[in-house]
Amino acid sequence: MPIASIKPMKPWFQTIEDVGSSLKWSEFFGNDQPVELDIGCGRGLFLFNAALTTPQVNFVGLEIDYHEGRRTATRLMKQNLPNARVIGGDCKALLTERIFPGSVQAAHVYFPDPWWKKRHHKRRLFNDEFTVMLARILRPEGLVHHWTDVADYFQMSQGLLDHHPDFTRCPTPAEREAASDMDYHTSFERKKRKLGLPIYRGLWQRR
Ligand SMILES: C[S@@+](CC[C@H](N)C(=O)[O-])C[C@H]1O[C@@H](n2cnc3c(N)ncnc32)[C@H](O)[C@@H]1O
Repeated sequence: MPIASIKPMKPWFQTIEDVGSSLKWSEFFGNDQPVELDIGCGRGLFLFNAALTTPQVNFVGLEIDYHEGRRTATRLMKQNLPNARVIGGDCKALLTERIFPGSVQAAHVYFPDPWWKKRHHKRRLFNDEFTVMLARILRPEGLVHHWTDVADYFQMSQGLLDHHPDFTRCPTPAEREAASDMDYHTSFERKKRKLGLPIYRGLWQRR
């Protein structure tokens, strides 16, 4: 797309380059509310609903696909939501370098790309390194919410979190029937539930 035709969407959509080398949440949002991350936010159903229903918390979607990220940010912008933003870029660059240790109240990791083929498993978001990144950015008692429909992915990711010394497993979040066609946690949950697939859900707390 020619640069001139890209609409400025600040502050709802910003890139990693826009946010600079160290993210001070109080400056980013202009207040001291706690911050939660939606890592790989995609179409942003969770981000949008969470920001609307929990105005006392700031939500940040991290999305590597700028097109998807801008689409999500458009929805946030139309509602003029003060407590939700999207940052476009590779979440790993943000989690390792730009986010202050212990500055995040919760990380939501919903339906990370499964990379089905065995030879592609190394591309999966969840690995040892990612688990260490989550432990670094979360404050004590901060939470990791993680859902997926991919059984072998969940086996791997829950193993990493269960065995990491900084995390304690919490009771599995309850199943909930959708009350309407859009009453799902995320777009991928909606898609997978409609196919009748089970959803694996886990919650961990930072020690
Ligand atoms: C399967 S989709 C799930 C989207 C959303 N969480 C949901 O449940 O509907 C995975 C999303 O993660 C994004 N993603 C993958 N790798 C990423 C990375 N390294 N940093 C940020 N986003 C990433 C993809 O672009 C995609 O939008």
